[in-house]
Amino acid sequence: MTEVAFLLNGTQVVLTGVSPTRTLLDYLREDRALCGTKEGCNEGDCGACTVIVKGGDGAKALNACILFLPQLHGKAVRTVEGIAAPDGTPHPVQREMHRHHGSQCGFCTPGFVASMAAAHLNGDIDHDTTLAGNLCRCTGYAPIIRAARAAESAPVPDHMKTDAAFILAQIPKPAKQSFAGKGVGGPREGEDSPLSLRPQTIAELASWYAAHPDATLIGGATDVGLWVNKLHRDLPKTAFLNGIAEMAQIIDLGDTLHIGAGVTIESLRIAMGAHHPSFAELLRRYASTQIRNAATIGGNIANGSPIGDGPPALIALGAVLHLRQGEATRDVPLEGFFLDYRKQDRRLGEFVTGVTIPKSAPNLRCYKISKRFDQDISAVCGCFNIETHGGTVTAARIAFGGMAGIPKRAAAVEGALIGQFLNPETAAQIAPLMERDFTPLSDMRASAAYRLTTAQNLLIRYAHDLAGAKTSVMEVRV
Ligand SMILES: Cc1cc2nc3c(=O)[nH]c(=O)nc-3n(C[C@H](O)[C@H](O)[C@H](O)COP(=O)(O)OP(=O)(O)OC[C@H]3O[C@@H](n4cnc5c(N)ncnc54)[C@H](O)[C@@H]3O)c2cc1C
Ligand code: FES
Ligand code: FES
Repeated sequence: MTEVAFLLNGTQVVLTGVSPTRTLLDYLREDRALCGTKEGCNEGDCGACTVIVKGGDGAKALNACILFLPQLHGKAVRTVEGIAAPDGTPHPVQREMHRHHGSQCGFCTPGFVASMAAAHLNGDIDHDTTLAGNLCRCTGYAPIIRAARAAESAPVPDHMKTDAAFILAQIPKPAKQSFAGKGVGGPREGEDSPLSLRPQTIAELASWYAAHPDATLIGGATDVGLWVNKLHRDLPKTAFLNGIAEMAQIIDLGDTLHIGAGVTIESLRIAMGAHHPSFAELLRRYASTQIRNAATIGGNIANGSPIGDGPPALIALGAVLHLRQGEATRDVPLEGFFLDYRKQDRRLGEFVTGVTIPKSAPNLRCYKISKRFDQDISAVCGCFNIETHGGTVTAARIAFGGMAGIPKRAAAVEGALIGQFLNPETAAQIAPLMERDFTPLSDMRASAAYRLTTAQNLLIRYAHDLAGAKTSVMEVRV
């Protein structure tokens, strides 16, 4: 039985009996001796393991260290070994890296080249953004950015364009979607084989998950990948959601947008640019291109992290969450989904199918405060959304991440804003009420005092922002 089939550097690979949680990185380095793809952090942070994955939704740079083999079914992978032309001619980004001295020790170079080749293929010339997930400890970024710029106008080599047609024509459809696998990292002799599913529809997932509520659902694996790599967790039952096309759509419903749980953070970022630019800018600072290309909004909500960047913005927008359990569906306000630290209002066998948000909210502003500008988790994420009539606040939704055990609204502050004319002075008067709403913790990201002061200051920043002042560090820098 075909279990996982994909193209690897233009050649078809069919794997049977593979462990569902075997990573592409381990497969490349251990089974294929394709050691150009490097292992640095093994948790999605450094980009040394970047590969290019092409599917029906385009070409993406992804981190192979947190990419499980079943996620690749029907796709085409190019590693650094497959980026030069078959006759050995370097890819334009390789040529320019060489010419501009973009490599010293070379450890990070394959990952940079893969990210640069993916961006080159997509015609993406925002190099600061596309390379924010690749760390280099010795060359310095200037020569690398110079190399990326120099390659911009070079045509995409033919061999980089051929994979898509090849996938559709030659990847066989699996005989059935559910498979049991044994392999490296899988069960030992005598143990049960892991049970795994790659559903194509929401209905298929719903009936299987109702029968296997103890299974782990896997969206982009940007959290689950770390459970396997860092916590060494065995996942005996898994369902891979990335084949459910109907769950990966954003649907315009007139006044609202339905965002499927399988929509990646990168697709959401692009879509939000037209509707909620401040949310889009927040998402630009969500991890890196590689992580955003994998992570889904469903996973970002379902994992219940108090420091996830999606939920505060969605709560400020008044998002409604859609859940499904077997044949039953229900809708809940997103803020009601988060009950306590890592405890969500999710029933056995129930999963997130999507979220609905208003299409327009001109006063929405999202602020992410983290130690680094790029590729960092929020210490505090504050999202503000007020409605006014004649300048007076008539409705307020303010939600924070990093201020409590769950993403949470600032109820006292919201109440105090109603009926006020919001300006920096009234904001400063109301800001101390944050103390009533939140008792934040101190941790490695920030102290409780820092968090509280920051939340108060963000309210004042919001008032300045609505008044038209430039408040972003990118806007005020010299
Ligand atoms: C290097 C790195 C940087 C990161 N930076 C950020 C950041 O800046 N901001 C941020 O918010 N997060 C960040 N994260 C965390 C992570 O990207 C998010 O939590 C992500 O959105 C999870 O989505 P996923 O699809 O990868 O989830 P997965 O890892 O696939 O799953 C996460 C959890 O959600 C469950 N799940 C997935 N889909 C569903 C569904 N449809 N219904 C029910 N349950 C489901 C899974 O079973 C699991 O419990 C980072 C992670 C890494 C590795
Ligand atoms: S090894 Fe660091 S991102 Fe994969
Ligand atoms: S060249 Fe050494 S880490 Fe980048």
